[in-house]
Amino acid sequence: MGEAMNRQWLYAKPPVGKIAEDTFQWVETAIPVPRDGEALVRTRMLSLDPANRAWMMGKTYRDALEPGRVMSGFAIGEVVESKAPGLAKGDIVEGDWGWQDYAALPVRQLAKRDTKAPLELLIGPLSVTGLTAYFGLLEVGRPKPGDTVLVSAAAGAVGSMVGQIARLAGCRVVGTAGGQDKCDWLTAELGFDAAVDYKAGAVRRALAAACPDGVDVYFDNTGGPVLEAALSLMNLRGRIVCCGNVSQYDVEKPAPGPMAVPGLVVTKRLRLEGFIVMDFYDRRGEAEARLAKWVADGRIKAIVDVVDGLENAPEALIGLFDGKNRGKRAVRVG
Ligand SMILES: NC(=O)c1ccc[n+]([C@@H]2O[C@H](COP(=O)([O-])OP(=O)(O)OC[C@H]3O[C@@H](n4cnc5c(N)ncnc54)[C@H](OP(=O)(O)O)[C@@H]3O)[C@@H](O)[C@H]2O)c1
Repeated sequence: MGEAMNRQWLYAKPPVGKIAEDTFQWVETAIPVPRDGEALVRTRMLSLDPANRAWMMGKTYRDALEPGRVMSGFAIGEVVESKAPGLAKGDIVEGDWGWQDYAALPVRQLAKRDTKAPLELLIGPLSVTGLTAYFGLLEVGRPKPGDTVLVSAAAGAVGSMVGQIARLAGCRVVGTAGGQDKCDWLTAELGFDAAVDYKAGAVRRALAAACPDGVDVYFDNTGGPVLEAALSLMNLRGRIVCCGNVSQYDVEKPAPGPMAVPGLVVTKRLRLEGFIVMDFYDRRGEAEARLAKWVADGRIKAIVDVVDGLENAPEALIGLFDGKNRGKRAVRVG
């Protein structure tokens, strides 16, 4: 048997328009050797996020990706050798070491997960995805019982959890998703009160019918036409949670935005507030405990869409922009 190698996907070149297989390059190198203060980690699950594509567009909340480097991405792994204080062989850790089998990392870049929860939950619902839904909705959106909460990309990772948490908060919940199948699934399986297929056209009219009392909180995962339609349906003092802009990531140039603050933001006294989940990490423990309990009690369904094999990571990421996933898309490695 040949010597084990470190299989990696490099970010090969910036895409022109949509990402494609040739945005990435497969290489195999030697497994790194950890130095003092480092741990060697073997990847078990990779998180696939629309943000992976946004990082190719330039500086965001982090530096732009550099061609020729290992493709970045959030991952869960197992320590196989440790020269780092506080970490031992077998520990489960998370971090951003990207699309590869192994990485040697300083301890400060690794967060230990002291839980027996399955890795499928630790890669999304009980980590970044769940925390984004939890803090974005409850802290930024501040829903009240009886409010109408609208969420876009509702059948995806963050959206599916936002809708379910909003139901627990006593709200009426409406989602948008691509295709009637996803919309039916949202109402039949996840307890949404209504769902609108944004690909079927006449989005504003369909949303107005689905939200007869207007919208109090719009959780915006997509930007684009759904945001435009939602803006006009907002109630007085409504809150728009600006979580992401997935309709504008996988394009050559994002569509231009409004030239001024739309008049209705002023007249309706709307609050549009962006956030990054890490803003709330000092309260991470509290949120993870609640999310874990909701999932264990069956009050929230944690939907995970696992693709097997590191070799399939590019195709799995491309699929996010075609709406191929339901819930959290992740790649199981090894
Ligand atoms: N602020 C933060 O800290 C933070 C953290 C995590 C994620 N996010 C953001 O949250 C949003 C959702 O992320 P996620 O991880 O949960 O991904 P996701 O929703 O699981 O996957 C992306 C979904 O977006 C939809 N989509 C793709 N292209 C679209 C388009 N042109 N217009 C409308 N919808 C489109 C697809 O569903 P359909 O079939 O419905 O089209 C797809 O399933 C993203 O904008 C992401 O950047 C923000």
